[in-house]
Amino acid sequence: MSRQYFATVARGLESLAAQELAELGATSVEPGFCGVAFQGDRKLLYHVNLWARLPFRILLRLEAFPCRTAEDLYRGIQGLPWQDYLTPDYTLAVDATGKTQQLNHSHFTALQVKNAIVDQQRQQFRARSHIDTQTPDVRINVHLHRDRCVVSLDSSGSSLHRRGYRPAVGTAPLKESLAAALIRLSGWQPESAFMDPLCGSGTLPLEACLQGLNVAPGLFRQQFGFQTWPDFDPSLWQSLQTAARKQQRTQLPMPIWGSDRNPDVIEQARLNAQNCHVADHIWFEPIDLQDIEPPTDSGILICNPPYGERLGNAQELGSFYRQLGQILKQRFKGWTVFVLSGNKALSQSIGLKSCQRTAVNNGSIPCQFLKYELYR
Ligand SMILES: C[S@@+](CC[C@H](N)C(=O)[O-])C[C@H]1O[C@@H](n2cnc3c(N)ncnc32)[C@H](O)[C@@H]1O
Repeated sequence: MSRQYFATVARGLESLAAQELAELGATSVEPGFCGVAFQGDRKLLYHVNLWARLPFRILLRLEAFPCRTAEDLYRGIQGLPWQDYLTPDYTLAVDATGKTQQLNHSHFTALQVKNAIVDQQRQQFRARSHIDTQTPDVRINVHLHRDRCVVSLDSSGSSLHRRGYRPAVGTAPLKESLAAALIRLSGWQPESAFMDPLCGSGTLPLEACLQGLNVAPGLFRQQFGFQTWPDFDPSLWQSLQTAARKQQRTQLPMPIWGSDRNPDVIEQARLNAQNCHVADHIWFEPIDLQDIEPPTDSGILICNPPYGERLGNAQELGSFYRQLGQILKQRFKGWTVFVLSGNKALSQSIGLKSCQRTAVNNGSIPCQFLKYELYR
């Protein structure tokens, strides 16, 4: 049976995520605002949760109804057959996004939805679900937009960018889903060398390695939201995981490097690589940028230098970006370089002419992903 889903993604990545979902077998794929609508059956839902690298959450759409006021919301939610999705022994959480003129506090919206559900349960069962905001059995998502309420079940549980291989994080780490999106945007293929000389806890090299070895990102996670749903099919889930393990490659044609001047974050990166069983495929070394040398004649270099919002002061950063530009220009001829920068003035200090710019958000920071071709 085909059902309607919505994958939530970071702003700016909607079209890229739509491509990924279509490649995974989704149909009727429609990029929207901060997400992508698509259709598919239950198997596709599990498959997308297991394989998709870009989305945060995959929501199963239950219902949409006109909604302007708190009463509209309460009545609309009570109209749904909640006993099909949870019984009073299940714990529950409600996430609310968007607003209407009258429903403009997401906390209140979530509370109203929770009340409507537990009141229905009390009438039916004389018992109600308890709330667990961290690890509920069932996570419900309501989105208010243009006086309509869309109600969904969150099939992912916790956000999919939390792959489960990274307990250790450095300063200002990229989300895994953003790192995966940047690698996809760069067009990197495992036949090229990959390098990040400012790798922090290693998110970009790790995500490149997982892509290169065709490792499903969901294999490291302990739990997905759909596993506690009443219609969970454990044998289908097991068969998809087994198939994913069989599709892994054992070798990369070209090596992947990550370096950083901070030995502590390199230790973290190595630990993260061990956690996802790719330590033998990535070279992580503590090296200062000024000592960096290209390991091969050509390849893809992606980095995310500090840009002031979270790390470093403006003057020091200006000379750091100039140094980055000079090193790239002098030593990396033949390479294609990508820099994620959240500060326009700093990216101009690189002193190289970018041939492509893509707007992406790093959390709440609007950034540019800049491409430089360094010809011989
Ligand atoms: C924004 S963080 C990169 C985060 C990384 N992408 C991650 O996901 O963990 C910038 C990194 O640049 C490193 N860095 C700053 N100056 C450096 C230098 N001169 N040489 C090498 N690394 C440097 C910092 O130690 C920091 O880990």
